[in-house]
Order: sequence, then structure tokens, then C-alpha cells
Amino acid sequence: MGNEKFKIGVFDSGLGGLTVVQALKQVIKGAQLFYIADTKHAPYGEKTQAQILQYALDIADYFIKHHKIDALVVACNTATSAAIENLREKYPKLIVIGTEPGIKPAIAQTSTGHIGVLATKATLQGGKYQQLVNRLAKDKNVRLFEQACPGLVEQIENADLDHPKTATMLEHWLMPMRENRVDTIVLGCTHYPLVSHIIKKIMQDDIFLIHTGDAIAKHLLERSKEIHHHNSGVLTIKLYATGPIDQASVERVFGKREEITHIII
Ligand code: DGL
Repeated sequence: MGNEKFKIGVFDSGLGGLTVVQALKQVIKGAQLFYIADTKHAPYGEKTQAQILQYALDIADYFIKHHKIDALVVACNTATSAAIENLREKYPKLIVIGTEPGIKPAIAQTSTGHIGVLATKATLQGGKYQQLVNRLAKDKNVRLFEQACPGLVEQIENADLDHPKTATMLEHWLMPMRENRVDTIVLGCTHYPLVSHIIKKIMQDDIFLIHTGDAIAKHLLERSKEIHHHNSGVLTIKLYATGPIDQASVERVFGKREEITHIII
């Protein structure tokens, strides 16, 4: 790549994509990472496919115009479902990586054959999720317990992670899974790893949680070879938000204070 650094744009509706950034930090070196928390439009999961597609296209345009990115990581299952094909079509030269619920690793992991899938309403209702299930789970001896979690992203965004209401909501969704001997749960929304500790407590630690950050990081590293990225040196990270964001939650994810720049898209 000459002296130019590998530039990566990552986005989500808010804090969730930071769980992917954490995984990228472990694997990607010597690059510049720009993260947009599109909190002005959160939660994506309650929006229409057309709205989510427009947010994704606007963010991609912003990254290209302002940062000349080489790769775009859609760190959001909901936006991947609504926009990934359009993004790839519109930017054929860009490395575009999406996030999909980890059904495949869950099938490899389960012993009881009963798998829980927690995701947003938009992800579960999207055609892409159905295709994934048809491709991977249909003929296998597994049963999927799918559950949309309306309101959970708001709870997480509002820094109410440990609020009793968060646990009550999760209990309501998880009890049927416990009763049905679900032993593996797919976290099909990048926000949900932020409440892993509550999910584990409700499932009495007897549960395997699947999230996709590590797989995304490996995939990006592989694709970065196409543009001869050397992957050594320091990874710099710059955070942006389109609306309000809870600084303390960002700090909680990174373990230190991070500066956040507000932008209008
Ligand atoms: N974190 C996102 C996902 O992975 C979107 C959550 C939302 O805004 O509803 O689906």
C-alpha cells in the first residue's frame, strides 16, 4: 500500500459496534479506524428496511468523502441485512464486510440441538436471515428459538445495563429457552454482548454465547491482503457520533476515556 495507511470505516446505530471494534483491535495493526455511532437514528431494529438502507448509504458516503476508506465494516446485523448488497453494488472497489448472526458456529457448538437466537425485529424479519437459516439449519437436526428483543438496544444505549428492567426483559425472553434446554445462544445484534453477563446469570452460566466480532476481524485481516496491508504498527481509532451518546458506556467498553466527535450526516 506504499506509505498510505489502511483506512477502515466501521459503523453501527450506537454502542453495539464497539464490541466489534474491540475484536478488531486484537487483530488489525497499523491501520486507521474510524467509527460512527449513528445514535441519531438508533435503534435501527425498529426502522423500515428502506430507512436503514438510506442511513447505511449516507454513512458510507461520509466515510469515503471525509476519510477515503479502503474498507467498510457494517458492525450491525440489522444494517447488514438491509444494506449489504446495495453497498457492495454501489462501491465495487471497497472491501465491504457485514455482520450476520452466528448460526453456523452455533450448530457446531450445540449438544442439545436447541439454539436460541436473539436479534432485532428487523434482522429476524429480513430475507437475509431466512436465507441463512434455510442454508445452514434447515436439514440439520437443530431447533431454533428465535426472539426479537424490542427495547433492549434503548436500555443499553441509555446506560441502563444493570438496571433491574434490563434483567426483567431478558428473563422474560430467556425463560422459554431455559425450559427448552437451549445450550447455545446466538447474539444476533452487536449490542447484546454488552449484556452477556446478565444473560449468563439468567441461564445459570450453563450456556454458550456466540458473537461474531472475532470472525469479522479475521475476515477483514484476510481481505486487507488484497491491498497489501502489512498489519504491523499501531492501530489508531477515532470515534464519531451523529446524536447523543453515553460517554460512560463508551468508557466501559474501552476501559478508558475516549474522545467522541459529534458529526452531522
Ligand atoms: N447493533 C445493531 C445490530 O447488530 C442494531 C441495533 C439497533 O439499532 O436496533 O443489529
